Amino acid sequence: MAEESSNWIVMVTAKSPTNIAVIKYWGKRDETLILPINDSISVTLDPDHLCTTTTVAVSPAFQSDRMWLNGKEISLSGHRYQNCLREIRQRASEYEDEKRGIRISKEDWGKLHVHIASYNNFPTAAGLASSAAGFACLVFALGKLMQVKEDLGALSAIARQGSGSACRSLYGGFVKWVMGNDVTGKDSIAVQLASEKHWDDLVIIIAVVSSRQKETSSTTGMRESVETSTLLHHRSKEVVPKRIVQMEEAIANRDFASFSKLTCTDSNQFHAVCLDTCPPIFYMNDTSHKIISYVEKWNQYEGTAQVAYTFDAGPNAVLIARDRKTAGHLLQRLLFYFPPNVDLSSYVLGDKSILQEAGVE
Ligand code: DP6
Repeated sequence: MAEESSNWIVMVTAKSPTNIAVIKYWGKRDETLILPINDSISVTLDPDHLCTTTTVAVSPAFQSDRMWLNGKEISLSGHRYQNCLREIRQRASEYEDEKRGIRISKEDWGKLHVHIASYNNFPTAAGLASSAAGFACLVFALGKLMQVKEDLGALSAIARQGSGSACRSLYGGFVKWVMGNDVTGKDSIAVQLASEKHWDDLVIIIAVVSSRQKETSSTTGMRESVETSTLLHHRSKEVVPKRIVQMEEAIANRDFASFSKLTCTDSNQFHAVCLDTCPPIFYMNDTSHKIISYVEKWNQYEGTAQVAYTFDAGPNAVLIARDRKTAGHLLQRLLFYFPPNVDLSSYVLGDKSILQEAGVE
């Protein structure tokens, strides 16, 4: 291990974006391994927007595994963190830094402790999912630190054990999480369908409808749906398999009309499943419903789809505009019909020129 002294430290930093599902994952067949009841497809956001940055460090001076999230220490005792740490440690291989005289053998990795510092670049209170980016980043950074030689697919199967949707954040562009059928979960991995360059006209706008913490977490919500919703079982067996094929085709052909139809319909069915759950789960609110009606009317008026909408386990709208010009119109309209009571520029992450183009800044 360390040659002379024990005050060395080896560190790795990684950054992962979050992803938005256009065909939703909702329901597990195995709660511990986090194995889903259907395939899902997502689009990964630009790495500068809504991302997590994580630094992982190892040193013989560390007495225990510890983690800080946005500067506050959190517990690593939960099974999700423990599973990710264990899986990465099992795959660790030798590390050597000749210059610094540091050698860490495969066995040493099992004895050394890690410290983890993770930051989200978006307001934690904004009610936006962070576990996808968080676990993807953690697993990727630990894999680099511990010299794990496996490919992204194998790493995605580990990130999946932290949070299901996290497995899709290891890739950019359009990503499919294949449910798999092995009991060990080794074939329940994410694969990239198309890179971020494939369809770069699309612009994603997230309208923060409420920054309140959701009342029912995704984990609890989907457990209750699996137990009580007959619609969910129909959805996973009869509906999603066909939609996955159609969505892959729409993405391959950059067919916005089909992409939009499938995205909106799938989001609506997911929320219908929530209503079909006993007791029912209400993730969307009146403003979410008004946004849906507005987008539907706009698309109908234009005769071709301009914008797609999708909602996760909360009221915030994820709006996907077919191109930059449409995104500008969308922003103008959102501001007119749903005026925010906050400084808008703080909600447009990264390139803010879109606000100027839309004449709203
Ligand atoms: C509605 O991945 O957060 O966003 O696996 O229990 O951690 P766990 O759940 P999580 O669920 C995401 C649900 C969703 C749909 C999706 O991202 O596919």
